[in-house]
Amino acid sequence: MKPEPPSETPRKVYMKTFGCQMNEYDSGKMLALLAKDGFTATEDAEEADLILVNTCSVREKPEQKLRSFIGEVRHHRARGARIGIAGCMAQHAGEALFKRFREDVDLIFGPDQVPRVRELVERAQTERVLENRFMDADDYPFVRELSPESAGQVGAFVTIQKGCDNKCTFCIVPATRGVELSRPSAQILEEVRALAARGVREVTLLGQNVNSYGLKVSGELTFAQLLYAVAAVPGVERIRYTTSHPRDMGLDVVQAYRDLPQLTSHLHLPVQSGSDPVLRRMKRFYKRADYLGLVDRLMSARPDLSLTTDVIVGFPGETDEDFEATMSLLEAVRFDGSFSFMYSPRPDTPALKLLDGAVPEDVMKDRLARFQKRQQELTLASNKAMEGQVYDVLIEGPSRWDPAVVCGRTSTFKMINLPGELHWTGQTVPVRIVRGFTNTLRGERAA
Ligand code: SAM
Ligand code: SF4
Ligand code: F3S
Repeated sequence: MKPEPPSETPRKVYMKTFGCQMNEYDSGKMLALLAKDGFTATEDAEEADLILVNTCSVREKPEQKLRSFIGEVRHHRARGARIGIAGCMAQHAGEALFKRFREDVDLIFGPDQVPRVRELVERAQTERVLENRFMDADDYPFVRELSPESAGQVGAFVTIQKGCDNKCTFCIVPATRGVELSRPSAQILEEVRALAARGVREVTLLGQNVNSYGLKVSGELTFAQLLYAVAAVPGVERIRYTTSHPRDMGLDVVQAYRDLPQLTSHLHLPVQSGSDPVLRRMKRFYKRADYLGLVDRLMSARPDLSLTTDVIVGFPGETDEDFEATMSLLEAVRFDGSFSFMYSPRPDTPALKLLDGAVPEDVMKDRLARFQKRQQELTLASNKAMEGQVYDVLIEGPSRWDPAVVCGRTSTFKMINLPGELHWTGQTVPVRIVRGFTNTLRGERAA
């Protein structure tokens, strides 16, 4: 590919990102593409020629965030700045947003259109633009340009798959990100090599259901094979991935935890509920016993594996007994951490039909508070148990609060702060844990 000459007109883009790692990754790719038209990123909306908000709609709250964000930035249109809404909410509610923000927003486009961001932004200079069709899956142009932010970073995301073919009944993502499509492994490895050459030491492979990677494409690597291929790239010290679906995690991936030292000792394995009737209504297609069996196999392959999860409380029809099953699963696995949410009804999702059995909000709140309180106790106990021991910590950079302190992560994804030097960034250093708190730990260099 011939490099394009840099654009003559320097312009600034202010990017606000809500939602998950996929959106963070997409925002980086949009910045990389817009750089070809002379855009550099700014943290200050006041000086931006283009303001883009990358939205999430997985629960109702992120939608409220969008409304207040647009309220804050809409006045910049009067001085000629263009305002655009991208991301999952733009995908499923594009038409409604186009009408609602008639006076405030120039451009609306879904996640599938990220590769076309340059063209859409140019069109938005002269007309209002709404583009939320899904692109042709056979020929989807995954963006190959590297996010400008990846230069100088220790860790980077790499997408391996887009969309999702599952139909978990609570989830809007299949409607916002479309059908599952695996990115060619040659492209993934090219991106990993380029990132490693830039100094990136840790890659996180992204997909909604990484375990089904490659299965629909004849001759493509499986997810386990992809892990081995990424581990073989020189410079890659650590590999993480998200998200794994418990139904689809095969023995080959479990085996990779025995074989690959680069594969980190942390796995995010969303369980959603500990009750079989709830899992059935969620259409997760595994049972509590399957999940616990998988955890056992993983723990014997990698005894120091740290597990985290996602839980939804108050899914329609969830009884006290169902919720107690989730609490007892928490005790059985003793997750190191979890993201837990009250069920939020989403448009275009099958669970809307179950709303006759809606759990009252105060009951949901109580359940969530109980779950989170117990999780915090478990997390604190796990962090305290690390006190006095030495761990390899990959230093990510200076702490935000104190320039004499650096922070980094253990292989188990625990965040450690320690007195240190900026030039340690990107190095893996041995650290003795001095004190464990709920969210972070404090350490000191051991050698
Ligand atoms: N693909 C991942 C998986 O299968 O677990 C998760 C994707 S979703 C973006 C992240 C988390 O949001 C889910 O694991 C679930 O716990 C939560 N979530 C999704 N839809 C939700 C809803 N309607 N209400 C509450 N939480 C929801
Ligand atoms: Fe949503 Fe289920 Fe797909 Fe995850 S696997 S994105 S929860 S439909
Ligand atoms: Fe992610 Fe939110 Fe979309 S969680 S996939 S940005 S709906």
